[in-house]
Order: sequence, then C-alpha cells, then structure tokens
Amino acid sequence: MSSVAAPNIDTIVSLAKRRGFVFPSSEVYGGLGSAWDYGPLGVELCNNVKQSWWRWLVYERDDIEGIDSSIILNRLVWKYSGHEATFNDWLVDCRKCKGRFRADKIIDNKCPSCGASDWTEARPFNTMLQTKLGAVADDDPAALAYLRPETAQGIFINFLNVQTTMRRKLPFGIAQVGKSFRNEVTPGNFILRTREFEQMEMEYFVSPADEHWKLVDYWVEQYLEWFGSLGLDRDNLYLYEVPEEERAHYSKRTVDIMYRYFPEREKPWEELMGIAWRTDFDLSAHSKNKLDADGKRINPDSTEDLSYFDEPTKQRFYPHVIEPAAGVNRTVLAVLMDAYSEKTNDKGETRVILKLSPQLAPIKAAILPLAKNKPEIVGMAKAIKRSLQPVLRAVYDDTGGIGKLYARQDEIGTPFCITVDHQSLEDEAVTVRDRDTWEQDRIKVSDLAEHLQKRLKPYPVPESI
Ligand code: GAP
Repeated sequence: MSSVAAPNIDTIVSLAKRRGFVFPSSEVYGGLGSAWDYGPLGVELCNNVKQSWWRWLVYERDDIEGIDSSIILNRLVWKYSGHEATFNDWLVDCRKCKGRFRADKIIDNKCPSCGASDWTEARPFNTMLQTKLGAVADDDPAALAYLRPETAQGIFINFLNVQTTMRRKLPFGIAQVGKSFRNEVTPGNFILRTREFEQMEMEYFVSPADEHWKLVDYWVEQYLEWFGSLGLDRDNLYLYEVPEEERAHYSKRTVDIMYRYFPEREKPWEELMGIAWRTDFDLSAHSKNKLDADGKRINPDSTEDLSYFDEPTKQRFYPHVIEPAAGVNRTVLAVLMDAYSEKTNDKGETRVILKLSPQLAPIKAAILPLAKNKPEIVGMAKAIKRSLQPVLRAVYDDTGGIGKLYARQDEIGTPFCITVDHQSLEDEAVTVRDRDTWEQDRIKVSDLAEHLQKRLKPYPVPESI
C-alpha cells in the first residue's frame, strides 16, 4: 500500500520552484547540471531538518557530542581512509552513441540513450572532487587536495581530541552536519543525487566486544522513529540489508533505509540513508601504531595513535564504529513528497496542502489583515507579527484577498493563519485557522503566543530516548 501523496518527484520540482523552496542553480547562464539553490523557504526547511536532527542526537541524548571539521583535509586522510584507491564508480561507454554511464546502473545490458548493447570495458573513475591549494603550477602534484566526499573522516581524525577534551568513555558518539562533494557520473532526479550535497553523519564508538550486529538494528530503529517524527509514513520506508558485494570497503554490515521516491515506477525505492558497522577500520587506518599481519606499520605518516584505554578491563584497543549516515537533501525531498496533499474546497477548487510536521514548516504562523486599507487593522496585524517573532517564525502578508492568502500558506505548509478583522479592534481577539482541517478558533491576542506554542509543541520526540 502506498500513501505517498505526491505522485512523482516532478510534482515536487514544480511546487518547489513555484513557491520558493528550490531553484535550478545558475539559471541565468543556462543552469549547471544537477545543481540546485535553496530559496527563502527551502533554506528554512533544510535548517529545520538539521536542527531537529541535532536537537535529537546532541541535546536530547547524553552520549553524543557535535563537531564541525574542515571540508578540505590533509590529502593523507583520503589515502589512509581508502578513498583514493577505492572511491570509484565503474564507467562504461556506449560505442554507438558515445554515451557514458555507470556500469552498475545499466539495465538488461542496453544503453539508456540509444538501446544498443555495444560497451567498452568497465574502468574505474574516482569520484572525489579535486582542487589545488595555494598559488601553484597546474601540474604540481603536491598541491592536490580533495573536497570531502563524506563528513565522517573529519570525525575520525578528531576522535582523540573530542574524547579527551570532553572526558568521554565508551560508548559515545560524535555528530557532524555539513557539505560533501562527489563527482557523480550520473547525477539527477532533482535533489536526490547531486555533486554537492549535505550530510548528517554520526560515528558511534563502541568496544570491540560489543554486539555490533544488534547495535546496527538499534540505530535503524532509532532513525525509523526520527523519520516518523518528521512526518514520514512508515509504509514509505523500506529496510535493505546491503549484500557484501555492494558494501563499502570498511563495512561488515550495512542496512539502508530506503524511501519510496518513485511511487510511479516498478522499482520505487532509493536510499534515504545507511547505517553501517565500520568496524575499527578508520581509527586503525589513521593510527601510527597499528601493524599489519607482517608486523609493518600500516600508516607510517600518522603522528598519533587513535586507540582507547578502557579503564574497567585495563585494555587498549581501537573502538569499533556504528555509523548512521543520512543526507539532508534526501530527507528534505522525502519530507516534501510525504507532506504533499490535495484538497477540494466548497467551490470545487483543488488546493495543494503541504502537511509538513510543524517543527519543519518554514513559517509557523502567517498574520493576515482582512482589510488592508484600514490602518488600525494593518497596525494591529503588524504588531501581532512583531510580538510573535521572538517565539516562532511569523510573517505578515497583505498581498491578496483572504482566500488567495490562505491558499498560498497551505501550499507552503504554514500550520496557522491568523486573521485580524474589524471585530478584532473591539474584542482584542483574532481567528486562528488550522492548515489541515481549515477549522477556525477565536483566540484572545494576549493568549495567542501560548496557544500557538502549545499546538506546535511538544516536538514529537521518539519515545524510546
Ligand atoms: N560516511 C558514509 C557515507 O557517506 P553514503 O551512503 O555514501 O555513506 C550517506 O552517504 C548518505 O548521504 C546517503 O544515504 C544519502 O542520503 C547522502 N548522499 C550520498 N551521496 C549523495 C548525492 N550524490 N546526492 C545527495 N545525497 C547524497
């Protein structure tokens, strides 16, 4: 059973552009393939997703710290993490139309452009985006650097800094949110696969003796609850146990949480996030003391040992890591698709209503004067907007008739419209209209902030935390 309300991604692309969520990037120069700019409402929605995540993990739990590391790291980080050698897509060229594709995305051995089945040999293509540091010659190999393809490595190389400064004992986690970059061969599907995107990653450090398999299940459950709190329907999420041949080089187990991004297709699922058991691979790989099977240092360049001394067992070891890695942009797309709905009013007009979870709605309340040529009403509406602003995001709008103003706010997911009318001047009360039911309540202005806050809160926090 599907309860996705948006019939396809294109419906969201058009709403997103029409209403100021997401614009195609660099449009004045004809665009840049698969790059998108977030507009006034899109930036609020992204920020609200990130804040919800940060609040849930870093504030509401007691075992997770946050950091913000550099995007450009020492190149050796990417050598020892394995990305220089293995962060590849396998490419094939169609000999007939010269199209270039990812080998693993070819269906039935047919070229997606011309239908031919005449391919070159598959060859690796490293998808890390390169740059050069400093005023150096183009071909100086010492100047080569990468824009990070995952935020995770910035966490691993800071493991000891965080553990010692915050006096942490295992188990504990480090969370980071920020931009990552991949030179994707076939980006596309709106904000689902782009070359520049944002990740919300958390590395949870545990003992080698812990039950890692079960810990992956634990974090899968936690994220299912969090996605539920963002308004995603459980029917639109699906768990995929990633087989060994598809897993990253560092993973002994990965479960992907997939979302129904393509309800109109035979294969509707695409990855929303992954939860991986990364073993002790990364902390060992960046450590100066770790030896290989022949007794040789695996990392002669590192100046630190990222091992951990466990007081209760008096043992020193490299912690294992459970990593839930989510994308901001894919979460935003899933949230928009799930929130999309249509409703027909008494006049038979169909309206789009974006039933966003109130915590994610870009605007929480719109203050609308019923008569914009009446200075007392306008003055009162503007004063209400100013008084609400310190507690929640509110806007004042008088750019149309009330029906049009309601429709506009419904379409961008504003939970409450506050109407100021002639009666308001007499009784110091306003009408509060609910986005989803269109029901209206009369509320005293003096009670308004508390009334709205009560209905916006508590933030639906997963119960098991
Ligand atoms: N540190 C592990 C890691 O990066 P990943 O599965 O490659 O794992 C994690 O990426 C998440 O980042 C994905 O589930 C997805 O949400 C997001 N992501 C990855 N590549 C992306 C891209 N090209 N565009 C948008 N989001 C992307």
